[in-house]
Amino acid sequence: MEYRKSIADYIKARYAILVIESFEEERVLNELMIISKELNHNLYLWNSTQGVMYNGNVIGEKTFDLKVALDFCETKAQEGNSKNIFVFCDAHNYLTNSSNPIYRRRLKDFAFNIRNKGYRSNCVIISPNFEINNDLQKEITLVDFPLPNRTEVKRIISSFVDSWRNVSNVKVDVDENLLEKFVDAAIGLTTLEIENCLAKALVSDHCLDKNDLKDLLEEKKQIVRKTGILEFVDSNLDLSSVGGLNTLKKWLELRSHCFRPEAKKFGVRAPKGLLLTGVPGCGKSLTAKCVASAWNMPLLRLDMGKIFQGIVGSSESNMRLALKTAEAISPSILWIDEIEKGLSGAGGNGGDGGTSTRVFGTLLTWMQEKTSPVFVFATANNINGLPPELLRKGRFDEIFFVDFPSFEERKKILEIHISKLKRNLDNFDLNKLAKLSGEDKFGKDVVLAGAELEAWVSDSLIEAFSRKINGSSEADLQMGDFETTINRLVPMGQMRKDEFIKLRQWANQNAVSASVDSASHPTGNESFLGGRRIDF
Ligand SMILES: Nc1ncnc2c1ncn2[C@@H]1O[C@H](COP(=O)(O)OP(=O)(O)O)[C@@H](O)[C@H]1O
Ligand SMILES: [Mg+2]
Repeated sequence: MEYRKSIADYIKARYAILVIESFEEERVLNELMIISKELNHNLYLWNSTQGVMYNGNVIGEKTFDLKVALDFCETKAQEGNSKNIFVFCDAHNYLTNSSNPIYRRRLKDFAFNIRNKGYRSNCVIISPNFEINNDLQKEITLVDFPLPNRTEVKRIISSFVDSWRNVSNVKVDVDENLLEKFVDAAIGLTTLEIENCLAKALVSDHCLDKNDLKDLLEEKKQIVRKTGILEFVDSNLDLSSVGGLNTLKKWLELRSHCFRPEAKKFGVRAPKGLLLTGVPGCGKSLTAKCVASAWNMPLLRLDMGKIFQGIVGSSESNMRLALKTAEAISPSILWIDEIEKGLSGAGGNGGDGGTSTRVFGTLLTWMQEKTSPVFVFATANNINGLPPELLRKGRFDEIFFVDFPSFEERKKILEIHISKLKRNLDNFDLNKLAKLSGEDKFGKDVVLAGAELEAWVSDSLIEAFSRKINGSSEADLQMGDFETTINRLVPMGQMRKDEFIKLRQWANQNAVSASVDSASHPTGNESFLGGRRIDF
């Protein structure tokens, strides 16, 4: 196991303070126990109710005070040539910016002595949510401790299932095939959460079988949602629900099989991710929702706003938790919608004490180093707030620019939304409608966005319905409704024209047009389309 080796290496290299961020104290402790045996170190454990323990027995003073515990540990560290790992379970509560600075000082002193007096000891802090404050920033090393992987999840579920197999009053009907499905459903949860979910499934009807699969998956979704940062997005839309954006769709379709094991064997590197920028209401979020089902991968939406709200723990540790969960559930798509909302302070004077810069740094480093198959699907309506590092070549596989829809794209979008109303398309002149929603009607460079086209269709339907209610003989949706309602629309493109011209100028230099490739770029009136053209 990679993380076991990495923790052992830190200990051997005498890193003074390690912080292992995890909700799974027990699992981490088990690992540390194994490591301490392998390295022949004594393992001391402190928590705030039991004091310092060795081999399960309380030794020394039974203290809830971290300073007293650290004093005690230091005397142990000084003993002869002893090798020790001192594990602290509740220390994070004493080490926040708002707690008494004496605790941070005491820990720093201990770290200093470990380095300079040559103690063969390390401190390990286990914390679900560690706030790295300035005092300790240079002293601590954050160690990654992932959620249980497939093998571990399988072991947890198997041992639960086996323990109930021959119990009277309980029916367990789980074969190897179903077990694998349980594993898929449970991955992304902690050991305790998995056991709780299974116990709940069992208690509800004294039976554990294929009917519990759906509940298990639902439970997981609830639990992930409860972290308040990530959310599973269920969507059964596929890319045919997106009108236009052909270059982008082709790019995505080409990569739809790249997360399969065969792709890896073939030497294909799993795509890292893409950034979709551009005009609001033109299908960026819609594409994210569609790509997950097209690729048959779970879609996790990361709410950048909530990362910064700091309801649970610090912003950085929220970000780390989100990334860790996405990794555990991988192959997965991590959808960071409107990334600029959270990160507008990053790379500049955000006025938040550098928090957004650090959160952003966590994301960038992870994107750089990640090996797990998590595809990052980031969208941004406004590139002004985005730090240049994000846009640098190599962060994302590609940066696409989504502009207002072209004539052909408007036809397609209208077709999609009119079809949704279950109306016969033959009754509508799509060419005429596309013209009505474009430059012919609104003047140069002004056309309706996808969301506005959708709104136009619904307004027209309301118009038709109101005629029906008023007893008109022309009872259903028809072209005339569109012609009436278009006059009530004030296009966003008109109100924010200058903003979009600037955005397009940026896109011409920095992004690829999501809409057209140079071969098929229609020569009509779509001079406004921004972004470089690419060929496949
Ligand atoms: N290209 C498109 N094809 C079909 N519908 C679209 C398209 N663009 C926008 N829409 C409609 O407008 C809604 C809002 O678009 P959205 O994807 O949320 O825009 P944004 O680019 O701001 O993320 C979509 O849910 C969809 O109904
Ligand atoms: Mg959006």
